[in-house]
Amino acid sequence: MARTRTQFICQNCGAAHQRWAGKCDACGEWNTLVEEGTAGGIGSGPQSLKSARKGRAVALTSLSGEIEDAPRIVSGIGELDRATGGGFVRGSALLVGGDPGIGKSTLLTQAAAALARKGHRVVYVSGEEAVAQIRLRAQRLGAADSSVELAAETNVEDILATLADGKRPDLVILDSIQTLWTDLADSAPGTVTQVRASAQAMIRYAKSTGAAIVLVGHVTKDGQIAGPRVVEHMVDAVLYFEGEGGHHYRILRTIKNRFGPTDEIGVFEMSDKGLRDVANPSELFLGERSGKAPGAAVFAGMEGTRPVLVEIQALVAPSPLGTPRRSIVGWDGPRLSMVLAVLESHCGVRFATHDVYLNVAGGYRITEPAADLAVAAALVSSLTGLALPADSVYFGEISLSGAIRPVAHAAQRLKEAEKLGFRQAVMPASSGELATATSIPSFQPEHLADLVARIAGSKRRSDDD
Ligand code: TYD
Ligand code: MG
Repeated sequence: MARTRTQFICQNCGAAHQRWAGKCDACGEWNTLVEEGTAGGIGSGPQSLKSARKGRAVALTSLSGEIEDAPRIVSGIGELDRATGGGFVRGSALLVGGDPGIGKSTLLTQAAAALARKGHRVVYVSGEEAVAQIRLRAQRLGAADSSVELAAETNVEDILATLADGKRPDLVILDSIQTLWTDLADSAPGTVTQVRASAQAMIRYAKSTGAAIVLVGHVTKDGQIAGPRVVEHMVDAVLYFEGEGGHHYRILRTIKNRFGPTDEIGVFEMSDKGLRDVANPSELFLGERSGKAPGAAVFAGMEGTRPVLVEIQALVAPSPLGTPRRSIVGWDGPRLSMVLAVLESHCGVRFATHDVYLNVAGGYRITEPAADLAVAAALVSSLTGLALPADSVYFGEISLSGAIRPVAHAAQRLKEAEKLGFRQAVMPASSGELATATSIPSFQPEHLADLVARIAGSKRRSDDD
C-alpha cells in the first residue's frame, strides 16, 4: 500500500525537511516551512524501487536537421524585443517577474495584441483576473480588436487540454505561475511544490510543441520571484520589470537568457494608454536638469549595448552628528565609501564632518563602476559650491590608489553625449583611436587629484575673467 508521506517544504528556498521547525536550516528564513504531501508529487522522485518502471528508449538525433519555423517571434514592441534578445524564442519558457501593479499584465496584453495582429495565435490565460477585467484593460490599451484568445483558468491539466484543441498556439501567456495548480501535486496553490510542478508541466508543453510560453511571477518584498528559486533555473530566460514609485517609466531588465545577452534593458513609459517604448532613455533621465547648480554631474553610462546618460546629484552638508550620515539612492553604498576614502586620503578633500547625500536622478539605478568619476566630481562640486560645466559628461573607474582606470565602450559613450549636445568630456586617459570617434574635446586626468585641482581651479579661472 502506498504510504502518504508528508514533508515540510521551505516556501523561500524549496528545501525539504522531515519535521517542522521555526527556521529553515537551508536559507535561514523564519516561518517559511509549510506541510506538503509528497505522494505522487512531481518533485518527489521515485516512490520506491519496487514500483519503478523499466525505462523507455528515446530516439537520439543529430545537431543538424530541419527547424520548421523562424526560431523567434518578434513582437514589434522595440524595447520588449530588445530585452528578450530579439523576440520570443519558440519552444522556450520566459519568466517575467515584478512588483504588484508595476505593469506586467499591461505589457503582456500589449505584446499579445501586437503578435495577434501579425497573424500569430496567442492564448492569454489569467488566473488572477476575471475575463471582464482583462477585456476592460484591453479596451483601454486599444487591443480589444485583436484576435487574442482569452481564458480565466488555473488548473494545469485543463489548460493543457484547452491548448491541445485546434492549431498549436505560437505564444501562451500564463498570468501568474503562483495561481496555477496541477492534479499531480496535492498541496495548495501557491506552495513550492505546486508552483514547481505546474511550471514543469508548462515548460514540458513548450518544449514538446514548440510554442513559446511566458510565465508571470510575483515578487516578494525582498525582490525575489516568490516561491522557489528553482523556477528561475527551470526557465530559459528571466526578465524583471522594475520601476520607482512616483516615476512613470519602467525598466525591463534581463537577468538570465539562454538565447541572448543578459545585460540588456528595455525602457517604457506608463501612460493612460498603457506602456510606451522609450527608444532614447537619456532624454528621459536628463529631462528635468537644471544645469548650473553645484553638485550635479552627468554620467555617460552603458546599459548592455546602449549608452544611457544620467545625472548624478550630490549634497554635502556640515553635519551636527558624531557619525555623519551617508545616504544613497540609485548607487552602491560600499562604492560611495570607497570614493570618499580615496578623496580623503589621496586628494586631501575632507568629508569627515559632513553629511553626504547621493541621488541618481529619475530613480534610475546604476550598476557600473564607471560612474566613480562622475560621483567624485559631483561630491567635490557640492563640497566646494562650484558648479561643474553644464555641457560636460564624466565616466571612468577610480582605483584605490586614486588612479583613473579606463572603462569599456568609451567611443559609444562619447558619441551619445555629442548627440545630446554635450561639448566636453572628463574620462580616463585612453588610446589614440578614440580621437577619431568624436570631435568632443576631453580632459583625461591620470589621477583623481588632477580632477579635484581642475574643479577647484575653475573658481580662479572664472574670477580672472
Ligand atoms: P498591471 O499590468 O495590472 O500590473 P501587474 O500585472 O504587474 O500587477 O498594471 C496596473 C497598473 O498600471 C495600475 O496601477 C494602473 C496602471 N495602468 C496605467 O497607468 N495605464 C494603463 O493603460 C493601464 C492598463 C494600467
Ligand atoms: Mg497582473
